[in-house]
Amino acid sequence: MLLLLAFVACVAETPAEALPDATVVVPLSSEADGAAADTVPVGSEAAGACPEDIYVAQTGYTTDAPVLADPHADVLGAEPLPRQVHLGWTNEPSTSMTLIWRTDFDTLASQVQIGSDAGHLFTLAGASFGLGADTADGRVHEARVCGLTPGTTWSYRVGGEGAWSESHTFTTAPPPGSTEPFVFGVAGDSRGGATVWASILAGMASHGVELRLFTGDAVVQGSRVNEWDDWYDAGVGYFESVPTMTTNGNHEGLAQPYFALSPLPGNEQWYSFDYGNVHFATWNDTVATSADWQEQADWLAADLAASTRPWKVVFHHKAAYSSCRPNGEDANVRNYFVPVSEAGGVQLDLAGHNHNYERTVPLAGGLEVPQVDGVTYVVTAGAGAPLYDNNQGYSYTHVAVEAQHYMVGVVDDDRITMTAYDLAGNVLDVFTLVP
Ligand SMILES: [Fe+2]
Repeated sequence: MLLLLAFVACVAETPAEALPDATVVVPLSSEADGAAADTVPVGSEAAGACPEDIYVAQTGYTTDAPVLADPHADVLGAEPLPRQVHLGWTNEPSTSMTLIWRTDFDTLASQVQIGSDAGHLFTLAGASFGLGADTADGRVHEARVCGLTPGTTWSYRVGGEGAWSESHTFTTAPPPGSTEPFVFGVAGDSRGGATVWASILAGMASHGVELRLFTGDAVVQGSRVNEWDDWYDAGVGYFESVPTMTTNGNHEGLAQPYFALSPLPGNEQWYSFDYGNVHFATWNDTVATSADWQEQADWLAADLAASTRPWKVVFHHKAAYSSCRPNGEDANVRNYFVPVSEAGGVQLDLAGHNHNYERTVPLAGGLEVPQVDGVTYVVTAGAGAPLYDNNQGYSYTHVAVEAQHYMVGVVDDDRITMTAYDLAGNVLDVFTLVP
């Protein structure tokens, strides 16, 4: 059962300490003291517009009410230096960023200092909560920053006075609907293969990905904090600057550390977001209750219908179409989501779970159709987990490769070019979609 914990004032702004390199003032919008009297609100969102909820799943853990950094900003434990700093979106990608990091359990300081490239001009308060089943698993800190200018690079550091992280940068998404080209990465099923996962992150970075999608099964068992340590430690040098949007696989299993460590919107199981001209949506196909199937299908139908973006891409864990055993196709995904995706104008379905690379011909109702009339179904599930044979040879399977791999999507105004690469950078498959 998810425990929804109210978190008031996700980015309560406080005046920044003067920093020596603070030469260019690009203020965040603010509702501190009821008005932003002496700052110029920037970005398209209303001032201080981050929603105020943080999901922390499951009872029986050390999790308790999120601790606001203020007045605890000066409380540092034995290991207060932030580690595993990583990014995602709980709010609008063009004007916000959510930052998560780890410390020891006793460190309560949860602050982010952020500004333009020129310096960390504003100090914002986040929240923190316990991770895992024991205080030895440490504390998770989360800060949400809203009111940022789209398409802008921001410099930040997290932690608190006496225990700041190194400085990092990220870039907000372009405005929704922007036709500006961008590059995204996709991978899935690392599941204990941290070395391969690190190699994939490096490969994606070499292609300049601006966001990552992960199709689930990051770890063997989602409740084991040490496995999440491996996953996030492998991402040091990559996770601090590029957001990663994940989905719940059967191996995450809706475990508390997955929710606690994932900066995702809404209930963190089914959600959507826009990046430029693409609408991305995900669902959870390892459901907590059977009622979730229909609820998610209804949500997806409404979500897709409400989107005016020309591109619609879904990503999730269990494949609707796959020639790969032992896992094969998932009947619930086929029954609940395929009709909705096809009716809702989805061009591309990205799944994991079957440890290989596969691409179908474009399909509608199970039959091959011109690409613009159907959905191309891809399995991208080779980020470190043991590989499976593609041994069924169904007629809808157009390409199948048993290899560790990742994908890079290049979104242009009039096409998306998807390329699958192996770890050596060889092209396994390339195809183009038009809207
Ligand atoms: Fe799986």
